[in-house]
Amino acid sequence: SASPSAGASSEAPAGKTITLGFAQVGAESGWRTANTKSIQDSAKNAGFELKFSDAQQKQENQIKAIRSFIQQKVDVIAFSPVVESGWDTVLKEAKDAGIPVILTDRAVDSKDTTLYKTFIGSDFVEEGKKAGQWLVDKYKDASEDVNIVELQGTTGSAPANDRKAGFQEVIASNPHLKIIASQTGDFTRAKGKEVMQAFLKAHKDIDVLYAHNDDMALGAIQAIEAAGLKPGEDIVIISVDAVKDGMTAASEGKINFIVECNPLLGPQLMEAVQAVVDGKEIEPRIVTKETTFTSEQAKEALPSREY
Ligand code: AHR
Repeated sequence: SASPSAGASSEAPAGKTITLGFAQVGAESGWRTANTKSIQDSAKNAGFELKFSDAQQKQENQIKAIRSFIQQKVDVIAFSPVVESGWDTVLKEAKDAGIPVILTDRAVDSKDTTLYKTFIGSDFVEEGKKAGQWLVDKYKDASEDVNIVELQGTTGSAPANDRKAGFQEVIASNPHLKIIASQTGDFTRAKGKEVMQAFLKAHKDIDVLYAHNDDMALGAIQAIEAAGLKPGEDIVIISVDAVKDGMTAASEGKINFIVECNPLLGPQLMEAVQAVVDGKEIEPRIVTKETTFTSEQAKEALPSREY
């Protein structure tokens, strides 16, 4: 195999700065802010030129951004797809233009996996299962129904689909665990609050909230407190991400359990970009390592939390 100094297998001319086009989902959550920073910092450290676009949670904007990257002839395109479906045409355009694509954070449901080089990110089904397992363990001796409300992420997004599926699969082992209401809160704090208000109005007997991310849980906590209830006690709360604000709420006992979803994908992405440019083979799936936190564990981890 060729060493970088020999440059024999490099697709980019030696000494040329690599240009990376990145189409981000938006700025909907604390997780996303940390993810964007990780990508920007890592691109800088790697010496790449980063063309960054924010799609404001709209697929049409992401498609436009990808087409513009193709026109600008960037070396590599990376993106975090807002939703799972509807990417085949634009991915085919990138392939035809000879520009490799890397998926980060979220997957696409395209049948043709040659449309992208690799997918770097979490296993969202596994995250949903971890959330469900904690609940199954907590209520293993329940003799009455446990009423669960669910705040889903962006409709059609991989994390919303998968976190729902993983959770449902695991809680099905206990028929007392019942999802009585489930609605999207679009991964935002404002929508989480609004939908939780509606849940509280419609149901007087909510035992558990499962929020697909911390921001929605934090919005819901405001609604729960405004209704004169104690989050974490009157309503048990589970969320996903483990960003600083979520971990703070967990350390205060307002969130009972958080499943970590790691946003710091920048370094792995830049490694993959370099490998692709160098014409090296890369793994088609790179899964991020993650853990979980109870309130106690959140208290311990908080001081050294990076994001
Ligand atoms: O795709 C990852 C999800 O997107 C995060 O869990 C959520 O906070 C973000 O908006």
